Amino acid sequence: MNTIKIRDKIFEVFLEEKEILDRVRVLAKQIENDCRGKDLLFISILNGSYVFTADLLRNIDMNVRLSFMKLSSYEGIRSTGDVRRLIGLNDDLSNKSVIILEDIIDTGKTLDGIIEDLYDKGAREIRVAALLLKPDAYKGSHKIDYLGFEIPNDFVIGYGLDWDGFGRNLRAVYRIVDDQNKY
Ligand code: IMP
Ligand code: MG
Repeated sequence: MNTIKIRDKIFEVFLEEKEILDRVRVLAKQIENDCRGKDLLFISILNGSYVFTADLLRNIDMNVRLSFMKLSSYEGIRSTGDVRRLIGLNDDLSNKSVIILEDIIDTGKTLDGIIEDLYDKGAREIRVAALLLKPDAYKGSHKIDYLGFEIPNDFVIGYGLDWDGFGRNLRAVYRIVDDQNKY
């Protein structure tokens, strides 16, 4: 099935499952080549990155560790979105090489905050692996070391990504059809 409906919105397949998995395997090999011998800690940013994380890490043939973090949301308390902080990390980051795992990078605001937080916690070296990047929206300063796909400024779901909580279980990445006001 090439289109799906969630509530009043229609989505169409944008990246097939096979295309995604092939690309994720390439990223895994690049990470192996670049990082062999390092004391590597992957930090997966929940929720959206859970599928990318599972597929990427199972293709990495090295002894690595994985932690999960979440951004606090302050919904209903403070709504600026700028004060979100990382929660859930108990690992000691001093002298660690960290690879952040992100599902999608849009403006890059979230990523900049995460990187700042992790350096504050003592990380020595931080790399970023992301499945998707919207280059036309990206304003961040950090380079994306391992990138799956550059995509247009459309709203996408699937492969971990959600719209209002739905769509995370879809195997492909879907793009919204005829979105009037983007999002
Ligand atoms: P940024 O801070 O603007 O880079 O936003 C990144 C976050 O916005 C991601 O981690 C997602 O949670 C969300 N996001 C951005 N674009 C999309 C999209 O197309 N689909 C689903 N979530 C998105
Ligand atoms: Mg995310």
